[in-house]
Amino acid sequence: MYFGVDYYPEHWPRERWAKDVQLMKEANMNVVRMAEFAWAVMEPQEGVYDFRWLDDIIAICEKAGIDVVLGTPTATPPKWLVNQYPDILMQDSKGHARGFGSRRHYCYNNPDYRRLSQGIAEKMAARYEGHSAVIAWQIDNEFGCHDTARCFCSHCHQAFQDWLKEKYTSIGQLNEAWGTVFWSQTYSNWSDVILPSYTVCDTQAPGQANHNPGLLLDFYRFSSDSAVSYQQLQIDVLRKHSEKPITHNLMGHFSQLDYFDLSRDLDFVSWDNYPSNQWGTNSHQSVAMAHALMWGVKNKNFWVMEQQSGPCGWNAMGRTPRPGQLRLWSYQALAHGAEALVYFRWRACLFGTEQYWHGVLDHDGVPRRRYRELAATGAELHSLSTFFEDSVVKAETALLKSYDSLWSHEFQPHTAGFDYNGTLLQYYQALSDQHIPCHVTGVHSDLKHYKLVIAPALNVMDTELQEQLQAYVEDGGNLVITFRSGTRHSDNSMTETPIPGYFQAMAGIEVEEFDVLNNKETAAVTGVFGQGAASAWADVIRCCGAEALARYSSQFYAGRAAVTSNQVGRGKVYYIGCDLDGPAVLRLLGYISRQAGAEPALKHPSPGVEAVPKKSADGSDYLVLLNHNDHDVTVSVERAYRDLLGEKEGSGEFLLKPYGAAVLQYH
Ligand code: GAL
Repeated sequence: MYFGVDYYPEHWPRERWAKDVQLMKEANMNVVRMAEFAWAVMEPQEGVYDFRWLDDIIAICEKAGIDVVLGTPTATPPKWLVNQYPDILMQDSKGHARGFGSRRHYCYNNPDYRRLSQGIAEKMAARYEGHSAVIAWQIDNEFGCHDTARCFCSHCHQAFQDWLKEKYTSIGQLNEAWGTVFWSQTYSNWSDVILPSYTVCDTQAPGQANHNPGLLLDFYRFSSDSAVSYQQLQIDVLRKHSEKPITHNLMGHFSQLDYFDLSRDLDFVSWDNYPSNQWGTNSHQSVAMAHALMWGVKNKNFWVMEQQSGPCGWNAMGRTPRPGQLRLWSYQALAHGAEALVYFRWRACLFGTEQYWHGVLDHDGVPRRRYRELAATGAELHSLSTFFEDSVVKAETALLKSYDSLWSHEFQPHTAGFDYNGTLLQYYQALSDQHIPCHVTGVHSDLKHYKLVIAPALNVMDTELQEQLQAYVEDGGNLVITFRSGTRHSDNSMTETPIPGYFQAMAGIEVEEFDVLNNKETAAVTGVFGQGAASAWADVIRCCGAEALARYSSQFYAGRAAVTSNQVGRGKVYYIGCDLDGPAVLRLLGYISRQAGAEPALKHPSPGVEAVPKKSADGSDYLVLLNHNDHDVTVSVERAYRDLLGEKEGSGEFLLKPYGAAVLQYH
């Protein structure tokens, strides 16, 4: 199993390198990622290269038995490049260039930048392909980070028009799909078509909300495709010279790029996980869901390429990881499908924007508590590697994420504060808190192995997807959909079919009207889950074959159905017509899971504890327990087990220390 750090030798004197590598070795580390921001060092002037420093540090690593992942440095175009090709800078929607001084200041569609990126990637590939210590490539760094997914420059404008031409073939079809007859927006030529830039309405409806929704969704798709195509350029050039696996470091919940598309041609996914920093602390359920999604974008185990290792932030810092927490976060990653852990960063930098981003070591380079904790964690993980490599999370439930739906909700959220990702998280959390294992994956995954599929607010649909979901249900699956599901075509226009549109027949209901509560009022709901309240949205449902599982008990629609279920073939479609408070969602999903036969990993929920059931490559069943509390918790484990870290046999009560983790192999 790979266990290591992100290392920036170019930030430190050469004399320190050997000591760093020795300390890594002593901490049971066997991999470093390097070079992903070092363009100015590797190519100080156009066409002038210096890889000697990189050769030297790779040699030091190799001697110590530490393998290397090399990053292509294209997230940081150097100053000479910007001077020579100022046109590479990305532009915002007001036409301002986003200048040199931080990073990611380039446009994916700029022809010069594409050529120069290929150039440096090719040089690296040619030089290091044969090197036995170099084991993988990372392309660029965090596509889309710092709001860099969407550019409004003239190259993007041209590329967008070309992309549309390919998609719609005739301008008439584009006009039809977008409904440009509205407000006289009809286009006569491809060259007429605009980017959704600054308009008169921007002062009143800030952002891009005032633009045509069809144009917006296509622009978001195009922008995502632009990153995918830019990445593909580098993949192609690396593959020309190298057979080593290729990855990119994704950002978990980040949603400006379609991660299913972005990861399609990567050999494996990796991602960057910072549970707690200057900007806040993510709940353990949110981190778990991000891991689950990073598995689900390829339905394949992944790496964590940057795992938090200290207090961090840019101009202020977040909290210091508590004793035990670095180990806990490591087990959490492995539980959800990570097969390698790389901690960011080896040592806090003395200069630059990220001076405050602490690593395994502080600025002084002295190994202390965090170093010792990670060293001990590394020793444990190596002893358990056969359990984690090629293991799978045993989940009978899948939560579906759709970037099309997310984008459509983003610029038209229907009701104040509606947040698609937040809704997914609410559902994931409700399952996690009851220890009901859940994969997070895409609408085009093979769903037949799941007893329960939950697709909240899946609004952008087409007939193919409808048929696929219908077939899943007819075959015995249980599908959960919610308010706003099925209401739009893939061009983002509204359906004419009564709500829930594409799902109307399947759900056996008709939404006669709805109440947009806008978080200002509530509607009480009573049903199989007891009492709950909607505060964002309430669909008023007429059952046409479906059975009501809950009804409103306040507002003018008191007595009308709010949640329904409908038998379709051998399966069921559940429709949740309103948002609900967290406890009600938890009880409702508990009810639906029981109906669907999706088993929890532990029968008695323990707050703040995650329980992830797994199957190892050799077929043995085991359970990872994670205590995110700062106090002891005793959980009740029904099956007989062997505690792989404590080397004890047992069953029944199991004590988890504060921030403790355990791996229990079932007999
Ligand atoms: C990540 C990024 C790293 C570093 C870190 C701390 O998002 O990939 O390069 O910037 O955040 O800000």
